[in-house]
Amino acid sequence: MIAIALDGPAGAGKSTIARTVAKQLGFIYIDTGALYRTIGLAATAAGTDTDNAEAVAALLDSLSIQLTFRGDEQRVLLNGEDVSDRIRTPEASMMASKVSAIPAVRTFLLSLQRKMAEENNVIMDGRDIGTVVLPNAQIKLFLTASVECRAQRRYEELIGKGMDVKLEDVKSDMEKRDYADSHLATAPLKPAEDAQIVDTSWLELHQSVALLTEIINHRLNG
Ligand code: DC
Repeated sequence: MIAIALDGPAGAGKSTIARTVAKQLGFIYIDTGALYRTIGLAATAAGTDTDNAEAVAALLDSLSIQLTFRGDEQRVLLNGEDVSDRIRTPEASMMASKVSAIPAVRTFLLSLQRKMAEENNVIMDGRDIGTVVLPNAQIKLFLTASVECRAQRRYEELIGKGMDVKLEDVKSDMEKRDYADSHLATAPLKPAEDAQIVDTSWLELHQSVALLTEIINHRLNG
């Protein structure tokens, strides 16, 4: 099996790029952020305080999380219910960031992620894929961009979905998440030593897609 690890901060364009590349290669695209978002949603729904690591850990045994595919679109099921749309709000992003700091949550999701990569050719999008989840991935890419560029992109995406948000709030949420993600005691956001770093700040999305496709094709085909 072939695994491509695609890590980097929120809003660097990973998901769009990974989806496109996966389609071209016939690989499965796995968005691991959706798994953390689903646990955040489950904790909120259960009234569990996401700052209480023990309470969140205790909740995990009652959760069944499955990734399924509708065509090539990933859907995530929480105890059988499709929550793919409900995990996309700014509140769900914050909850995801909180639960992702809990070591028991990371351990809980580790086997699920590895199993997907054992059974399929994957391009896996996350924060710690090249460093922790798939340290033997054949290709490791770390995608980054300035916080201003990423906030602007995420703002346009949320506005496009009809959400009422302000650019400065999106940017400050992103700064908070960046800080939290890169200061995790377990699996902080950082490039693997053998990752290739790609800065997309000055690229349009279609240019980032083209660049990453070129890098991956070159690495796979020599
Ligand atoms: O990529 P995203 O915005 O959907 O991720 C949501 C949160 O989950 C983000 O704050 C970081 C966390 N996350 C993580 O800790 N490890 C991953 N492999 C993926 C996401």
